[in-house]
Amino acid sequence: MPGPSSPAFIFELLCRGGVRRLHEMQVHGRARFGPLWKARFGPVLTVHVAAPRSWLREGEAWRGPRRLLARGLLRPGAAEAFAGPVAAAVAELVARLRRLRRQHPRGIVPDIGAEFNRFGLEAISWVLFSSRLGCLGDAGEATAATEGVIRCVGAVLALTLVTMALPRPLLRLVPAPWDAFCRAWDQLFAFGTRGPARGRGGLAGAAGRGAACVTDLLARERVPVGSIYGNVTELLLAGVDTVASTLAWSLYELARNPAAQAALHRELAAAADGRDGATDGGATAATRSGAGAAAAAALYPVIPANARVVSDCDIRVGDYLVPRQTLITLCHYATSRDSRFFPAPDAFRPERWLRHGDTGDTPGDAPGDTPGDTPGSRHPFASLPFGLGPRSCVGRRLAELQLHMALAQILLHFEVRPEPGGGRVRPMTRTLLAPAAPIGLRFLER
Ligand code: HEM
Repeated sequence: MPGPSSPAFIFELLCRGGVRRLHEMQVHGRARFGPLWKARFGPVLTVHVAAPRSWLREGEAWRGPRRLLARGLLRPGAAEAFAGPVAAAVAELVARLRRLRRQHPRGIVPDIGAEFNRFGLEAISWVLFSSRLGCLGDAGEATAATEGVIRCVGAVLALTLVTMALPRPLLRLVPAPWDAFCRAWDQLFAFGTRGPARGRGGLAGAAGRGAACVTDLLARERVPVGSIYGNVTELLLAGVDTVASTLAWSLYELARNPAAQAALHRELAAAADGRDGATDGGATAATRSGAGAAAAAALYPVIPANARVVSDCDIRVGDYLVPRQTLITLCHYATSRDSRFFPAPDAFRPERWLRHGDTGDTPGDAPGDTPGDTPGSRHPFASLPFGLGPRSCVGRRLAELQLHMALAQILLHFEVRPEPGGGRVRPMTRTLLAPAAPIGLRFLER
């Protein structure tokens, strides 16, 4: 199987900033070696797959809690149980954006990603612990603890790849990244462990209560306490930056594409004053804002690559037999920007993501077409921002609820424009795909 030599790959990663550009290296790798290539990432040999495929093999260890989490978060209608608290967090977010824009002479909020991180933490705290943190209050009100959690989530994400890529002897010589990584995890665990106490009275007694939050759900089903703490900490890590980045990219692209923003605003306004709601309960507006978020999630997949190890057998991938225990990296960023599946793959086109049967007047909407502007050409696995199969994102429905509600309220209250003089913001990899620079946007009151 082709691929770069180990020294060349390590040089690219460590000396030429490749750790932050892993998503671009997927695209370059595909162009240079084809859809399958291998590379050594620190001590780990990994096979890169930049062609859409389905991977469904699973381990057992995570299955019990995962089944419960899927029941509480993923089954139809489950996420909607959190619509009230999410709406309250969205209202605080809108009020905060209004305060911030008023503090700036031209109505600019200089770092929307930071604001959306606060929103993500506020919402997930309710979902996990039934506890409001007040992260979106006046600047200065947000406690040091909650700011600390956001910093720790960022540190864990930023350091995961660095600590994976550095060879072990080097980590012993330069222990700072590993130490910082462990400190950040420790702080997150401490927060995740204190969370239930802040919520509805701790784990004791949760078994007798209705499941109003994830901690209660797990406690009621008698999941061991250690596993509850582990799961809520993982959900905390998974539920903040993911939503914040996707929301930031959605708004960034809508600001740069005024026609798409105007179309979405029209639908939202109609739904809000009952015109759309009278016929379909706002479903058209929800479909439109969902399509906006989906278009951003395809262009900037928060998880630009994920990986699987097939532990018990060798596996055939294309023309190659990959030995068992090999790490197989699935290159989502490369496949979702592949012109064979998406014409003009770098363009932000919400209409690509409207499914047939909606009222959008877009090519490809005719009954029988696959979703998108080029009927039939999109591979069903070409863009998988939430993954696929039993190990896919358990927070997907909750994330979609948050994205839809936040986008709808923000666009109902503000017209959003790019920051005058602000340059193009590129993505960078820090385990997740994040904006490489703060995204500043101009908010005009509607
Ligand atoms: C736009 C927001 C989000 C995106 C794009 C996203 C994406 C993903 C992806 C791609 C995976 C890996 C799937 C795979 O390996 O096949 C994943 C896993 C996961 N996500 Fe999300 N996620 C988002 C929000 C959330 C939220 C809000 C939560 C928490 C409520 C969450 C919790 C998780 C967990 C726990 C896993 C691991 C699932 C498992 O291994 O069983 N995610 N997510």
